[in-house]
Amino acid sequence: MTEKEKKEVTEVSEAQIAVHWQEEGYYYPSPKFIAQANMTDETIYDRFSLDNFPNCFKEYADLLDWYKYWDEILDTSDAPCYKWFRGGLINASYNCVDRHLEKNGNKTAIHFVPELEEEKTDHVTYQELWVRVNEFAALLQDYCGLKAGDRVTLHMPMSAELPITMLALARLGVIHSQVFGGFSGKSAADRIVDSGSEYLITMDAYYRGGKLLDHKIKADEAFETAAEQGQNVKKVLIWQRYGGKYSAETPLVEGRDVIVNDLLKNYYGKRVDPVPMPAEAPLFLMYTSGTTGKPKGCQHGTGGYLAYAAGTSKYVQDIHPEDVYWCMADIGWITGHSYIVYGPLALCASTVIYEGIPNYPDAGRCWRIAQDLNVNIFHTAPTAIRALRKIGPDEPAKYNYDFKHMTTVGEPIEPEVWKWYYKVVGKGKAAIVDTWWQTETGGFLCSTIPAVKPMKPGSAGPGMPGIHPVVYDDEGHEVPPGQGIAGNICIQNPWPGMFQTIWGDRDRFVSQYFERYCKNPDSKDWRDWPYLTGDAAVVAEDGYVRILGRIDDVINVSGHRLGTKELESAALVVPEVAEAAVVPVKHDIKGVEPDMFIALKPGFEASEALAKKINDALITEIGPIAKARKVWIVPDMPKTRSGKIMRRILAAISNGTDVGDTMTLANPEVVEAIQKMASEG
Ligand code: PRX
Repeated sequence: MTEKEKKEVTEVSEAQIAVHWQEEGYYYPSPKFIAQANMTDETIYDRFSLDNFPNCFKEYADLLDWYKYWDEILDTSDAPCYKWFRGGLINASYNCVDRHLEKNGNKTAIHFVPELEEEKTDHVTYQELWVRVNEFAALLQDYCGLKAGDRVTLHMPMSAELPITMLALARLGVIHSQVFGGFSGKSAADRIVDSGSEYLITMDAYYRGGKLLDHKIKADEAFETAAEQGQNVKKVLIWQRYGGKYSAETPLVEGRDVIVNDLLKNYYGKRVDPVPMPAEAPLFLMYTSGTTGKPKGCQHGTGGYLAYAAGTSKYVQDIHPEDVYWCMADIGWITGHSYIVYGPLALCASTVIYEGIPNYPDAGRCWRIAQDLNVNIFHTAPTAIRALRKIGPDEPAKYNYDFKHMTTVGEPIEPEVWKWYYKVVGKGKAAIVDTWWQTETGGFLCSTIPAVKPMKPGSAGPGMPGIHPVVYDDEGHEVPPGQGIAGNICIQNPWPGMFQTIWGDRDRFVSQYFERYCKNPDSKDWRDWPYLTGDAAVVAEDGYVRILGRIDDVINVSGHRLGTKELESAALVVPEVAEAAVVPVKHDIKGVEPDMFIALKPGFEASEALAKKINDALITEIGPIAKARKVWIVPDMPKTRSGKIMRRILAAISNGTDVGDTMTLANPEVVEAIQKMASEG
């Protein structure tokens, strides 16, 4: 990051530490790729220009089957809560399953790859998917009494049953809220309470790193914590892991816990007609971290979201029905929702779901899966690429797979890492797209249409067709492209994939994402409501966007978003802790990881045991991804005279960079003490 860019970023944020590279030259896709690409027409950017907004998005809506075609493409009467394709009736499950049966019933919809290589891969055809979705929908309707508009929390690991569950709920118009399987039971509980879910759907166990993890135990914790907060879960539905009997050690609670596989026997052969849902009806909630301790439920609608997931899967992911597509993300994140489940299945592709970690049992696992299943489109995150590069730089060459297309998502990717991905993983043949987007946005914001725009290592690319980014400085002035100056990247216009609101908290939705650069709070015109992404970015002369990282209180560890307030609240659960402050620290593989600074209440002493207790609290409250690199118990926090903790200084100490001027602090002496601690490790 140049001095000029640094100046623009005033608060401590990843943007200050994570990105330190400059622009690189272009790379071009092969003629072979271009010849088969879904989108080669350069006029797409004109068709999706602001002059043609919002009608341009009809092109995406027309990729779907509608029970009733919509009347109005964009209803802004409640701006910035927008309704896309108003008047339309549609069902997501129908679009991802039923409509493919006639031509492609025998085609594989899902390849589920268990982590243990001795277990067989499950190839689920579209016909079989339809049967399983119908039977489970019948159970949900009949046994649980679920109906359109109800919410159900899912806390499931990677399995074929996860999309089956999502699609069964979507068939009924029930809103699903899947919580990342690696999160704790307590995290699941927060989401159960916030969404008002009366049912929790989980799985008994799953393999990770060669170990069978008891996952059901988390349901007990979720149930109890939710009950303490006044939300009564009526039933816990437990899927048995692929091929297994009930394998978790945790006993079932009578009257509450039900094994889905047993109950399903009563519904064999049952069919449920998909419920035609209004286009703007919510399809799912996806909770994500923000600037407060409370995760927010991003509410995604049915017609707009599905149209955007399908359209971007077709043009950016270049998915054709004959492709075998593998996205290594977890379905518990938005990437998995849009680009493992909804996008690929809407386009009738075969989507791969892998249960485990990429390097189990060895560094060649990923490339073996790709070879054995004939994967030709591959999608992963820089963290995984860095890790795979480190453990097995020459592994890909040993396997006989052939990627035409690869994606990187979730964090900025260093040009060096990009080039390894291109040359070694893609064997110099695959087109790469770097896709920048967010849980809130439902689909890509910036990337390249691979046969239309060249690739540029380290840069995500221009705004997607129909997405018009703009960079503002802190005073609200536009930063023009090509100046090399960083600022807050916003999107000028709404788009069909964007979230509709924060579940139950419209005020927070407006204040967090729109207020900062809103031109007129009473306006019903979308032009007055630029969407604030929370990222810092630099836009080059050619319109390519280089994302520097979060500028707000969020840190992105291995592509997983964690709120600093969320981490700090988890540390404060430990009774000895008076104050907690989290900062991002640069890490070779994970991009950044959290360092936790702690000040104790009077009368307590720092010790290794206490530091461990605090780190354990992060794991129990949130999950293993929240573990701090280091817990520093400090004599006091560096503070401004008004009492604000100076995280910028803590971040500088952790990252070994210059702490800058400390004279304006109320307690400058404390900085030296912390520096001494850090230098002694
Ligand atoms: O900071 C950006 C980073 O991840 C954030 C969004 O995280 P989440 O909502 O969990 O969604 C992750 C999957 C889309 C963004 O605000 N981010 C995401 N993709 C990229 C990225 N940073 C740089 N380059 C990307 N391609």
